[in-house]
Amino acid sequence: MKYDLLIYNIGQLILPKQTTVPLKGEEMNHLTIKENAAFAVHDRKIAWIGTNDEANNIQTKESLDAQQKVVSPGLVDPHTHLVFGGSREKELALKQAGVPYLEILAKGGGILSTVVATRNATEEELYEKATFHLNRILSYGVTTMEAKSGYGLEPETELKQLKVVKKLRENNPITIVSTFLGPHAIPPSFKGNEDEFLQEMVQLLNTVKKENLAEFADIFCETGVFTTKQSQYFLLKAKEMGFGLKIHADEIDSLGGTELAVKLGATSADHLVAASDQGINMLSNSNTVAVLLPGTTFYLGKDTYARARIMIDEGVAVALATDFNPGSCVTENLQLIMSLAALKLKMTPEEIWNAVTVNAAFAIGKGGEAGTLALGQQANFVLWDIPNYMYLPYHFGVNHTNSVYINGTKVWGRNNNV
Ligand code: NIG
Ligand code: FE
Repeated sequence: MKYDLLIYNIGQLILPKQTTVPLKGEEMNHLTIKENAAFAVHDRKIAWIGTNDEANNIQTKESLDAQQKVVSPGLVDPHTHLVFGGSREKELALKQAGVPYLEILAKGGGILSTVVATRNATEEELYEKATFHLNRILSYGVTTMEAKSGYGLEPETELKQLKVVKKLRENNPITIVSTFLGPHAIPPSFKGNEDEFLQEMVQLLNTVKKENLAEFADIFCETGVFTTKQSQYFLLKAKEMGFGLKIHADEIDSLGGTELAVKLGATSADHLVAASDQGINMLSNSNTVAVLLPGTTFYLGKDTYARARIMIDEGVAVALATDFNPGSCVTENLQLIMSLAALKLKMTPEEIWNAVTVNAAFAIGKGGEAGTLALGQQANFVLWDIPNYMYLPYHFGVNHTNSVYINGTKVWGRNNNV
């Protein structure tokens, strides 16, 4: 058989385990690293994996010398707020003055200021801006990601955001999973009438479903935003309609959003900085993925990070994401998050790689399809300018990507050598 593309002379090939459920606890610390490896692509899929010596016998149309580089599956970013209008650099001074995130929001700033900018932007403007950020996300080695709405808080703008995501999916090689986050904040016009607003968001879910604009539904369960009871109401309705569930849970205050996520069989529970012992225990007995966002804790200037060590030691499936958004974590760089996971969450390199590949894929319903390099899977992979897999979290704040391939085709490269 003649393959389409052979990648040979790979120094280390990172092979997260292919499983039917996310990797939990101790399993997260296991990662197969194949040295002096090679693999072949055929018809856009991984068709053969072997050693560099064996590669001599492989018939191929094209070949690529990896020059002893590290190669991994394309990374997965399972939590982003990709589509938004404007920016919030003026809030930085407030943050420096110590004004808390929820106080900025309560005064009509924060998320609500991005809501105004997003409502005022045309679909084309949002598309262009999101494309710019998307290309940057891709340049950091991400080939599968999630994108949320949530800066409309009204039907017209929420649908506008979701349509932008749809168009981005159609026009870009990167796989994008879409999430409806209508209940992201309480619009000023509904202050005191939160239940009515939620009813409107449930109505909107029907339209989103009919137009096939999102796979997941999400809500911000937090003090001053939505209570656990309100979150349960919204998520149950979403579940009935066939949406997968996500929740912004226990980010600042411990309200029980983590417990709720497990109870409802959510695909993921995200943030979890203030998750209770009981919440962690419930997570460990479930397949709900804990999506940790250390970039947000860092950016909000907090000293207390999510209890990743305890979660993993208790047997929870942990994933990592950027939470890219214009307020609480302004970065597209998932590699930076990998460094923060090492430095602040005390995760091992093996745990970190699993958390941005296989487990991140499960966090967005793409387990078994993305995040691993298994035979028959889409040939999405990254060549890295690093000497070994442990080096990436160690050398922080820069882009280590050499080149990114989707379906066996190069979609981003640092130079033309490889
Ligand atoms: O995940 N916590 C709520 N939502 C976002 C922040 C969005 C924003 O500040 O614009 C988050 O951190
Ligand atoms: Fe978020």
